[in-house]
Amino acid sequence: MSSIPKIKNDHAPVINFPKLAYKKNQLFNDLKNKKENMAVVGLGYVGLPLAVHMASKFKVIGYDVNADKVMQLMQHKDPCEELHSSEFKNKDIAFTVNEKILKDAKFYIVAVPTPINELKKPNLTPLKSATATIAKYLKKGDCVVFESTVFPGCTEEVCVPILERISRLKFNKDFTVGYSPERINPGDTKHTFTKIKKIVSGSTDESLELIANVYEAVVEAGVHKAPEIKVAESAKVVENIQRDVNIGLMNELSQIFGTLNINTKDVLEAAGTKWNFHNYYPGLVGGHCIGVDPYYLIEKAKENKYTPMLLEQVREVNEGMIGYIALQLERQFFNKRFLSKEVSVLVKGITFKENVNDIRNSKTAELCLELQKRGYRVVVQDYMANPEEVKRRYGLEIVENTSEEFDAIILAVDHEDYRHLAHYDYLKNGTKDTIIYDIKGDKKDRFPKEVYMSL
Ligand SMILES: NC(=O)c1ccc[n+]([C@@H]2O[C@H](COP(=O)([O-])OP(=O)(O)OC[C@H]3O[C@@H](n4cnc5c(N)ncnc54)[C@H](O)[C@@H]3O)[C@@H](O)[C@H]2O)c1
Repeated sequence: MSSIPKIKNDHAPVINFPKLAYKKNQLFNDLKNKKENMAVVGLGYVGLPLAVHMASKFKVIGYDVNADKVMQLMQHKDPCEELHSSEFKNKDIAFTVNEKILKDAKFYIVAVPTPINELKKPNLTPLKSATATIAKYLKKGDCVVFESTVFPGCTEEVCVPILERISRLKFNKDFTVGYSPERINPGDTKHTFTKIKKIVSGSTDESLELIANVYEAVVEAGVHKAPEIKVAESAKVVENIQRDVNIGLMNELSQIFGTLNINTKDVLEAAGTKWNFHNYYPGLVGGHCIGVDPYYLIEKAKENKYTPMLLEQVREVNEGMIGYIALQLERQFFNKRFLSKEVSVLVKGITFKENVNDIRNSKTAELCLELQKRGYRVVVQDYMANPEEVKRRYGLEIVENTSEEFDAIILAVDHEDYRHLAHYDYLKNGTKDTIIYDIKGDKKDRFPKEVYMSL
């Protein structure tokens, strides 16, 4: 049997795979053995729980530009009220506003805000600024992971050039990057940081391995390795877009059923008995995720000459719900001949969702302002929200105790203490004619038909 001759190929191209300044797995071992530090940049709703969890296994530098916040964190107080002071105990974490300390880190995680501007376009200012800060202290062998929600391509097209320009280091030769979206749901005590599978991605095979190892050390649910950074970036926006589209559909249906005098909740309950019907409900889409992230993909699509008609329309439908509710109430006030006097409205709950203190991008606040614009007197109650913050951001007063009788009460945000209130509770602030507008639409059975309204 003749053996197959070996082919000597002198013309084969020599491939120089990039060599990082750090040996395989060495950085992970050094982080694990606390020879090296990790830094979390941005200590908000996402960054703080992440930093504190990481600090159960690694030595963490928690850096934020907000000095007030850092002062509170040093005293184990979480301004976002997501963490209890006991959760800071026995954690290897040092909070700082001093950016120079970042030079002591080799693994960075960025969790700064990625909001939209007045034109509803991505505002990357905090992300670029945080990236520039890290770039000043970047060293050979470092790895930077981004957690902020962005459009596909942002990490490599926006952040990497900043890191390279300021550090004068070479991407994937001297340093690597990764992207790992955060999927926590504020106020959700079941799906917490360690219980949610973490999507991870890296700019090289080694960095993907390193990033996966780091997250696996703290996330019980494990990790999902995305093949490319832009896949991980896309997955995050898609998760929120899917919710936006489904809620948008319910909001449109609710408006159609409104014209037909059919209760939407009753329809959804009936349709929901089919095995493959998905349970979504109409409502106001606020906060800084579902109502913001779709604009990131919309912008990127348009940049690539694709007009995302469905996504844009859904955004319009969901944003339009404020005007729709205000109009529905106005009609009802007219029918009840309330308009001959100053109409007063009590709004229960102002935060962007139930059981959180976060009032950013609160659609209920926008509804209050819309009602004020229409000439109604609006009084807000919310035991979760910070009254000064509400006043500063929206110019609205929070009045916790009042014996005033209102013409309408809006059940806007279902905080635990509001959820179970019955009609007689509301009668303390109203009469038998007081209109009850239940935005969530699940309290129909508690109120007389004549006064009850919902989406
Ligand atoms: N909050 C959520 O539920 C949630 C869930 C998933 C993803 N996200 C995404 O995570 C990111 C962070 O969101 P968040 O809710 O934690 O925001 P946040 O506003 O609560 O916290 C961000 C923190 O970053 C700090 N910061 C801003 N610029 C900085 C800079 N240049 N250097 C250092 N610190 C800086 C701020 O002071 C603030 O403390 C966003 O992209 C958001 O879309 C948020």
